[in-house]
Amino acid sequence: MHHQDSSVSLCDAAREFLSRGRFGLLINGQDVPAASGATLETVDPSTGAVIGHLAAGDGVDVDRAVKAARAAFQGGWSRWTAYERQALLQRAHDAIDRNFEELAQIETTDMGAPISRTRASKAAVLRMIQFFASQCTAVAGETLPNGLPGDVTTMSFNAPVGVIGGIIPWNGPLNGQWWILGAALATGCTVVLKPAEDASLSVLRVAGLLHEIGLPPGVVNVVTGYGSTAGAALSRHPDVDRIAFTGSTDTGRRIIEASAVNIKKLQLELGGKSPDIIFADADLDKAVPGAAMGVFANSGQICFAGTRVFVQRPIVEEFCQRVAAFTRTVRVGPGLNADSQLGPLISGRQLDRVLSYIDLGGREGAKLICGGERMRGDNLAGGYYVSPTVFADVANDMRIAREEIFGPVLSVIPFDTLDEAIALGNQTEYGLGGAVWTRDISQAFKVVKGIQSGVMWVNCYGLIDPLVGFGGTKHSGYGAKGGRAHLDTYLYRKTVYIDG
Ligand code: NAI
Ligand code: MG
Repeated sequence: MHHQDSSVSLCDAAREFLSRGRFGLLINGQDVPAASGATLETVDPSTGAVIGHLAAGDGVDVDRAVKAARAAFQGGWSRWTAYERQALLQRAHDAIDRNFEELAQIETTDMGAPISRTRASKAAVLRMIQFFASQCTAVAGETLPNGLPGDVTTMSFNAPVGVIGGIIPWNGPLNGQWWILGAALATGCTVVLKPAEDASLSVLRVAGLLHEIGLPPGVVNVVTGYGSTAGAALSRHPDVDRIAFTGSTDTGRRIIEASAVNIKKLQLELGGKSPDIIFADADLDKAVPGAAMGVFANSGQICFAGTRVFVQRPIVEEFCQRVAAFTRTVRVGPGLNADSQLGPLISGRQLDRVLSYIDLGGREGAKLICGGERMRGDNLAGGYYVSPTVFADVANDMRIAREEIFGPVLSVIPFDTLDEAIALGNQTEYGLGGAVWTRDISQAFKVVKGIQSGVMWVNCYGLIDPLVGFGGTKHSGYGAKGGRAHLDTYLYRKTVYIDG
C-alpha cells in the first residue's frame, strides 16, 4: 500500500515550527497562553501521536482578542488606503508562495491530507490571495440620481463592517482560512479567527507569517480552543459584527441563534449530500474516476463531496464494477508519504462516526461492494484510516444517503429517467454541490437547472475558482464564497444625502 522510501522528510522550517510543542493564542500580535492556562492536545492523525499542545482559549480570551481587533479597526488600520492593503496582500501572496512547502508539511502533519494534495493546493491558495488583492481597489460605491427638490447629491459607500469572527473546520484550513483573511484584509475589517481544535497549526503559522510581512498587531487574531467554549463565545460576542462559518449544519444553527444577540449578519457554508448524476451516455473513462474522487478526495472530508451517485439503470452494473476496480487502485497511506492519494480521517471521533455509518449502510440493506474497513496494516496501525468504500443498491431514503458522513463512502443509487434523477437529487435537506455526466448538452442543462444547489459541475467535479465562487442553498447555508458577492459579508452600505 505504501513504501517507506517515499516518505517525505520534514524541511527545517516545518520541523522547527512543529517542534515548538506548545502553541499559544495570537492576540494583538503576541503569542500568549490562554488566560486560564488550559491547553488541549493536537494529534497527527496519520499515527495518532500527540504533536503538541494548543492553548485552549475560552470566552475570556475571545473577549481579549475582540478588544484587540476592535482597537485595530478603529486605529491605524482604518487609515490604510486600498492600495496599501493591496500591497500587503501582494506581500502575503509572495510570503505564502515562498514558504508553501513548510505550510504544506505542517498542514499534512496536522490534519492528515496527503502531501500530494496539500502541495497541489498551492495554486488555489495563491489564486485566492490574488483575487482578494484585486478586490481591495474594487470596493466602490455609486453616485445615484434622485428626485428630491433642490440641489441634493446622493451617493453610497461600501464601508468595512468592523470585527469579523471566523470559525473554520479542520478539513483544509491552509486553504479555508483565506476566504476570511483575504476578504477582511481587502475590505479593511479586522478578524478573530477560531480554527478547529483538530487542525489549528497552519492557521497559526500563516498568522505568524502575516505579522512578519508587516500586518499591524490586532488586525488578525487567532483564538484556538474548543467550539463549545471559544467558538460559542465568539459567535455570541456583542462586539463581533459578522461571523463567517464553515462546518456542520447543527453548529450553523447554534451560530444563527447566537447571532440574534447583536443581529450579526452571517456567511454560512454548512453540510451537504450532493448528487452526482451519471447518464448511460456518459464517458465512463472520465465519469468513473471523476465521480469516485468527487467523494474520496480528502478522504471524503469535503463539504460538497458528491456522495450520492445516481447512475442510470442500463449502466449500473458496469459502473459498479468499474468504480470498485478504480477504488481498489487508490493508495491510502500516511500523509507524508509522497505516494499516498488519500490519508487518514482527521480524528478517532471521525473514524468512529464513519465506521458506524458503514455499519449502518449494511443494516439498512445497501450492498457493500468495496472497502468498508478500518485499515491497520504496516505503518497504519495508530492512524485513523478507512478504506474507500462503495455501496451499491442504495435507496435515497436510507440514512447513509440522507446524512452527511464526511468520510470516503460512495453510495450508488439507480435511476431510470432524467426527471426521476432530478427529483431524487433534490430529495435532500441540503443544497451545496452537484454534478452531471453526459454527452448530451441539453440533458446536462436540464439537470443544471433542475437541481437546487449552489454549485453544479458538468463532466467534472469540485473545480473552484475564487472569481466564480460557490455557495449553498437550503440547509447548506447562505452567503457566497468567492466572487464579488463574497465581500458583502464584510461591508455595509451607507447612503449619503448632501444638500447644497
Ligand atoms: P463542527 O461544525 O462542530 O466544527 C466546525 C467548527 O465549528 C470548529 O472550529 C468547531 O470548533 C466550531 N464549533 C463547534 N461547536 C461550536 C459552537 N457551538 N459555536 C461556535 N463554533 C463551534 O463540526 P465537527 O464537530 O468538527 O464535525 C462533525 C461533522 O460536521 C462532520 O462529521 C461533518 O459531517 C460535519 N462537518 C462539515 C464540514 C463542512 O465543511 N461541511 C466541515 C466540518 C465538519
Ligand atoms: Mg491535528
